[in-house]
Amino acid sequence: MKTAIVTGAARGIGLATARLFAQQGWQVAMVDRDCAELEKVAPGIDHAFAVCCDISQADQVEVMVRTVLEHCKTIDAVVNNAGVADFGPIEQTDFDRWRTVMATNLDGTFLVSQACIPALKHRGGAIVNIASISGLRASTLRVAYGTSKAAVIHLTRQQAAELGEYGIRANCIAPGPVRTKLAMAVHSPQIIAAYHDAIPLNRYGTEQELAEAIVFLAGDKASYITGQVLAVDGGFESTGVGLPALRADPA
Ligand SMILES: NC(=O)c1ccc[n+]([C@@H]2O[C@H](COP(=O)([O-])OP(=O)(O)OC[C@H]3O[C@@H](n4cnc5c(N)ncnc54)[C@H](O)[C@@H]3O)[C@@H](O)[C@H]2O)c1
Repeated sequence: MKTAIVTGAARGIGLATARLFAQQGWQVAMVDRDCAELEKVAPGIDHAFAVCCDISQADQVEVMVRTVLEHCKTIDAVVNNAGVADFGPIEQTDFDRWRTVMATNLDGTFLVSQACIPALKHRGGAIVNIASISGLRASTLRVAYGTSKAAVIHLTRQQAAELGEYGIRANCIAPGPVRTKLAMAVHSPQIIAAYHDAIPLNRYGTEQELAEAIVFLAGDKASYITGQVLAVDGGFESTGVGLPALRADPA
């Protein structure tokens, strides 16, 4: 049985990803710093176990990876999904807010991946990093979040370049908007309407739609894919000048 680590697995995209891995016969280490929520959801998933860890803390990450390896001997895939969002103007993004976003989104992704490399080398594993369309396109209020996600995209390429010779693949998913707790905390009704207008598929994505792409990139069906960024975003990133007013039927 293959083993996947999924960070940020207590809810949202991470929880859907853990469920899909389990349905496809993987053992899943569900990692989150929200220990109470994690302990509630993990027992409901076959072959899943909970490991409480704040991924921004190097010492906790080391213990987490050791715990996973005591449980299951190998690690075949790591999904760096845990993330935080904090939207604000540049002048109001003080250093603490900036560091809080970087600590989880960038430092955590770096730390967890690095700690898993020795185990991933054994059988040639996969890293799937979760960035965002905000890492592909700049917009207002996302100086910390968007910059952290752009860095995750480049970190993925660094990992692919360096770890390919060990049979380790590294790819990145850039989700469009999904109605999770993270998004709903920062998306006002106006933002939701504007996203619907700007997205060719005219809607938010679902956790399940993201999970399908993540599990694909983690598994053998993606065995010759590495160093890629896949936007799972209803077409948002590809549209360039996809102005709603230019549609045949703007309604
Ligand atoms: N929902 C969206 O619209 C959207 C869009 C683009 C990208 N993303 C990205 O997808 C990922 C998942 O987001 P989501 O919407 O499911 O969010 P969510 O807030 O529903 O879930 C995130 C989970 O990560 C955990 N987490 C946060 N910081 C952590 C840390 N330091 N250590 C361990 N666990 C931590 C939280 O406790 C939570 O359970 C994030 O990286 C997010 O940036 C989401």
